[in-house]
Amino acid sequence: MTKKSMDKIMALAKRRGFVFQASEIYGGINGFWDYGPLGTLLKRNLREAWWQDVVLFPCRGALGPNGEPVRMVPLDTTIIQHPKVWEASGHVAGFSDPMVDCRESKARYRFDHLLVFAPASGDTQGKPYFAYLTDSPSEAKQKKKAEKAFGDVITIALSEVPKDAWARVLGPDAEKVGSLTEPRAFNLMFKTYVGATAGEDDVAYLRPETAQGIFVQFKNVLDTTRVKLPFGIAQTGKSFRNEVTPRNFTFRSREFEQMEIEFFCHESEAAEWYRFWRDTRMAWWQSLGLKGENLVLREHDREERAHYAKEGAGVSDVEFRFPFTDPGFGELEGIAHRTNFDLGQHQKFARTNLEFFDSDRGELLPNGSRKGEKYLPHVIEPSAGLDRGVLALLCEAYTEDPSRPSPELLRLHPRLAPVKGAVFPLVNKDGMPEISEKLHAELVRKFYRLGPIEHDVKQSIGKRYARMDEAGCPYCFTVDGETASAQTVTVRDRDTGAQERIGIDRVAEFLAQKLEQS
Ligand code: GAP
Repeated sequence: MTKKSMDKIMALAKRRGFVFQASEIYGGINGFWDYGPLGTLLKRNLREAWWQDVVLFPCRGALGPNGEPVRMVPLDTTIIQHPKVWEASGHVAGFSDPMVDCRESKARYRFDHLLVFAPASGDTQGKPYFAYLTDSPSEAKQKKKAEKAFGDVITIALSEVPKDAWARVLGPDAEKVGSLTEPRAFNLMFKTYVGATAGEDDVAYLRPETAQGIFVQFKNVLDTTRVKLPFGIAQTGKSFRNEVTPRNFTFRSREFEQMEIEFFCHESEAAEWYRFWRDTRMAWWQSLGLKGENLVLREHDREERAHYAKEGAGVSDVEFRFPFTDPGFGELEGIAHRTNFDLGQHQKFARTNLEFFDSDRGELLPNGSRKGEKYLPHVIEPSAGLDRGVLALLCEAYTEDPSRPSPELLRLHPRLAPVKGAVFPLVNKDGMPEISEKLHAELVRKFYRLGPIEHDVKQSIGKRYARMDEAGCPYCFTVDGETASAQTVTVRDRDTGAQERIGIDRVAEFLAQKLEQS
C-alpha cells in the first residue's frame, strides 16, 4: 500500500474547512487547533456515535461477561476541580516530563528525546558529544560534525553520557559545548488562579484528564441513581496538557477532547471486564471504518505501565497507523485496569468513605438473602481521544484516485460523514432548480437530526460532485432533463462514482436505508 501524504491530508483539511490553526490570523498558537464547519460536524458525529454506543445503547445491546446488559450512566464534570483532586490522583507530583534547556539557544527539549552521536570507539578524546533530535535538521548537521571528528559514530541516548562529560555535549542548536542544563521535571498541567486575589492559595489546574471528575462524583452517582455494580460512568469533555512538543497536526495538542468510561466492578471480576472492554472498544473503532492492518490492539509490557496499574492488571492500547507514524502506530484509546487506586486515593485525601455496599455478595443467610459485602470497586478505564479519532478517520478516509475527475475523496463512514446527502439540478434552468429545491427541503426536514443536506446550483456538475467527494458526502441526487417527465433522479455513489436512477418519491427512503444500514 502506498503511504498517504500527511501534507495532502492537512491541505484538504484546511481547504475544505475541517481543521484550522487556532488564532491563525495572529500567526497561530502552537498546539491548539480549531474545527471548521465540516470538521465540527465530523467531530460531533464521532462524539455522537460514542454517546449512542456507550451511553444510550451500551455496546449495542451486547451482554457483559456477567450475562447481563451493560449498565452505563453519563456525567458532566467541571474542567477546574479542587486542587486536592490532582494531589490525590498523583498529577501534581508525577505528571511531568523531564526537560533539558539550552542556555545558549534557549530551546527546551524532552530529555528522553535527545540522542547523541558518539565515537564508535567509545573514546571522545576530549572532543564533543553531538546531541540531536531524530527527524529534525539537527540530526544531519550533527552527524556531519561527528563523523568529521570521529569517523565512525554510534547513537546513544543523552542519559548514557557520563555526568562528568556533560560539559562536552554540544546541544542540537548550540554553537558552543556545555550549554545544556541538567534534566528537570516539567509539570504538564496548566496552572490558573481562582478568584481575584490570585495568590498561591488560589492555584488551580485545568484538568489533564476527564477521569478524575468521575471518581470524585462516584458516591453521588451511586446515591442518586439506582445503578449497582458492575456499572460504568461515561463522560466526554475537554482536557488540557501543556505538552512540551505538540506535533503531528492535532495528534498531540495542548487542548483536546476525551471520551472516557470508568467501569466499576468487584476485584474478582476485573480481569474479565478488562478483556470485555478491550475487545469491545477495538471492535467499535473497526465498526467506524478503521480496519485492517492500520488498526492494532497492543497489550502493554510491564515497563510501560502507569503508576496505578498493579502486577497482573491489564493495560492495552488501540493504535492506528497514521501517515506520520508509519510503519509504526499511534495511540487512539487506552484500556486500563486501574485497580482501586484512584478511589483509594480520593478516600484517603478527602477523608470520605467511597466503599460500595454490595447486597448481592457475602455469605448466604438462612432466609436466602446474602449478608452483603463492603468494598472499594476496581475500575476498568477505556479512555479515547476524540480529536485523535477524528484525525485517524480523516487519514483512513483520505483517498487519491487520479482516474476520477475528482482525484481526492474522503471515504468516510456514512454515520460519520459531515454532510449526509446533496441535491443538485443538472443545470440551473428549465424547471430543474424548482424541483431540486423542493426535494432538498423535504430531505432537510427528514434528516436534520443526523446532519446537513446540501443544495448546490453553481458550477459544472462534475465540480459539484468533486466538492462533495472531498467533503465525504456519501450520496448526491441530481435532478436532470428526465426528472419532470419520468419522476426519477440519479443517485451518485461517492465511493464508486456509479449512478443509478430512482423515483424522486423514493429518495428519502433510499437515504434513510443507507444511513440506517451503516
Ligand atoms: N484517563 C486516562 C488518560 O487520560 P491517556 O492515555 O493519557 O489516558 C487518553 O489519554 C487518550 O487521550 C489517548 O489515547 C489519546 O487519544 C488522548 N490524548 C492524550 N493526550 C493527548 C494530546 N496531547 N492531544 C490529543 N489527544 C490526546
